[in-house]
Amino acid sequence: MWEQAIRDAVEKTRRNLERHPMKFPHITQEQRYEWGESTDWIEGFYTGMVWLCYEHTQDPFFKETALLQMDDFKIRLQERKHLDHHDIGFLYLPSALAAWIVDGRDEGRELALKAADHLMLRFREGGQYIQAWGPKGDEKNGGRIIIDCMMNIPLLYWAHQQTGEERYFNAAIAHAEKSRRYLMRGDDSSYHTFYFDQSDGTPLRGGTHQGYHDGSTWTRGQAWAIYGFALSYRYTRNPLYLETAKRAARYFIQHLPEDHVAYWDFDVPIEPGTPRDSSASAIAACGMLEIMEFLAEGDADRVLLNEAVQKSMSSLVRSYSTMHEPEEEGLIKHGSYYVRGGMGPDDYMVWGDYYYLEALMRLTSGIPGYWYERE
Ligand code: GLY
Repeated sequence: MWEQAIRDAVEKTRRNLERHPMKFPHITQEQRYEWGESTDWIEGFYTGMVWLCYEHTQDPFFKETALLQMDDFKIRLQERKHLDHHDIGFLYLPSALAAWIVDGRDEGRELALKAADHLMLRFREGGQYIQAWGPKGDEKNGGRIIIDCMMNIPLLYWAHQQTGEERYFNAAIAHAEKSRRYLMRGDDSSYHTFYFDQSDGTPLRGGTHQGYHDGSTWTRGQAWAIYGFALSYRYTRNPLYLETAKRAARYFIQHLPEDHVAYWDFDVPIEPGTPRDSSASAIAACGMLEIMEFLAEGDADRVLLNEAVQKSMSSLVRSYSTMHEPEEEGLIKHGSYYVRGGMGPDDYMVWGDYYYLEALMRLTSGIPGYWYERE
């Protein structure tokens, strides 16, 4: 089943690239993609899918396309266009770093290092965190972190590995520690966002942006926590991060509905028509596969995680994928972007497609994500 799902994903990606040359998928409210310029935080996932297709097929078409797309990311960074946020890892890890990892491209390595420097501009020395959104000193967002950033800081860990410069590592672990202490809650659920007093770093309160309410658990945030803390463990070998990732994963598994695919928030009332977020389940599956790499065969947590990955991925392939709908352009249906804001409440999400394909590839070939150097 995994192989068949990968073949379908590769064919759909090939056709999308041919139909919409040098365009990137944008989220709509109409269960389809719109195709446009690279202006958001999401375009790296599309290039990441192209690299995954190249790894699977070795077809030069995919490599050439991914490299052309990387030029787009290069110009975007040179011109500092649409990069006034922290999602620099989401953009440059599966595009630029992937070019270096998969194809040994020096320009990919250089671009990823420049992207790491750009991300460092958001590190706030006073509070010791990476500011998610808005300009420095911004009244509303100046003291705000969000859980998603756990997936951006691997760019800093990697830059430290490459250059030996401690500043990258120090910023990444300071941010990871703030996230562990303030975004993760005592019951292993997570806040989407947390506010600090930007004048002195005093912790103020948790909250949400995309979740159901301030104290709820936004499922995609919980999935970012699973994968993000597992990656922090990969780079630091601090056992606290592996433990945090495992606990976040157990919470996720324990709160899933019967079909093993998450609704958009773990606290939202479930009624007919409550939107799912299939992308949260795809991300969580990748995070659990990442954790499993650090657990011995037979370890009870490994068994639990493996069972959860098998169940959720089977459900995604059987009941959410477009495997039997050749005309669709997305891979998995019923993702959610920002339900309360009315944006993409039940649609294709390109990161959902990316992590779905990454999980399938990890299940079949053990191919890890693009967040670190391959051995
Ligand atoms: N990183 C933004 C999101 O997950 O919607």
